[in-house]
Formats: sequence, C-alpha cells, structure tokens
Amino acid sequence: MTSAGPGGFELTEIDHVAIAVRDLEAAIEWYRSTLGAVVAHRERIESDGVEEALLNVADSYVQLLTPTRDDSPVATYLEKKGEGIHHVGFRVSSCAAALESMRAAGARTIDAAPRPGSRGTTVAFVHPKSAFGTLIELVEE
Ligand code: CO
Repeated sequence: MTSAGPGGFELTEIDHVAIAVRDLEAAIEWYRSTLGAVVAHRERIESDGVEEALLNVADSYVQLLTPTRDDSPVATYLEKKGEGIHHVGFRVSSCAAALESMRAAGARTIDAAPRPGSRGTTVAFVHPKSAFGTLIELVEE
C-alpha cells in the first residue's frame, strides 16, 4: 500500500459551521439581535429532513439547522446531545477528489459519492468516528 496524500483539490474556506437548534425562528432572531447576522439563504431539504438558515459571516456561514420530522438525523442528534454544533463544512474545489483523498487516508465516509447539497452545492459527509469526533461535510460550490 502506498501512502496517499491529498491531491486534486484545494481546501479553500470554512464553508459553514452547522448548529442544531430546536426553534429556527428563535435562533435566527437571536443571531440577528446579538451579532447582527443576516440570513443569506433558507432552504428545506426534504431528503435530509431538515430546514436550514444560512447566516452570512464574511465569506462563510453559520448554518442553523432544525429537523422537519421525527426520524431526521438532526432530530436524533437533538434528542441525544441537545442543541449545539452539529458539523463543520469545509469548502473544497472538488468534493469528489476530497472525498477520495479522505477515504484513501482511512476516513469512514457516510456518503459513498458526492450528492446535491443546499444552495446548489455538491456535498459529502465523513463520519465523526473517523474524524476525531467531528462530523465533517465537504462542500463544493
Ligand atoms: Co452542512
């Protein structure tokens, strides 16, 4: 086995920090009134059972996430761990290349292949158990 280093992509930005919340409207209002954060995008992603609000922070986002149904992974997360940081999204120039690189390095991926994310992005998730306890999302714009 040869050692595989990263190749074929660039890590360009923290795309977003995702925070699981029970009350999306209350969280949006809290970020607005305390930090002046403005909603850049809202979307309901039925396949993931979540509704999100992206708040602008320079070229990155805070992504407020709330479940839209009881069997959503975010609902399970809230039940087990309560509100708080859910995952970190890293912006990469190629989701496919980054996913391949992480897999080659032994990371356990949740998505076998890149898939559509919110606001027209391409995304893939890497399991927290193989990433020092943090759920990682690879995001290609
Ligand atoms: Co995300």
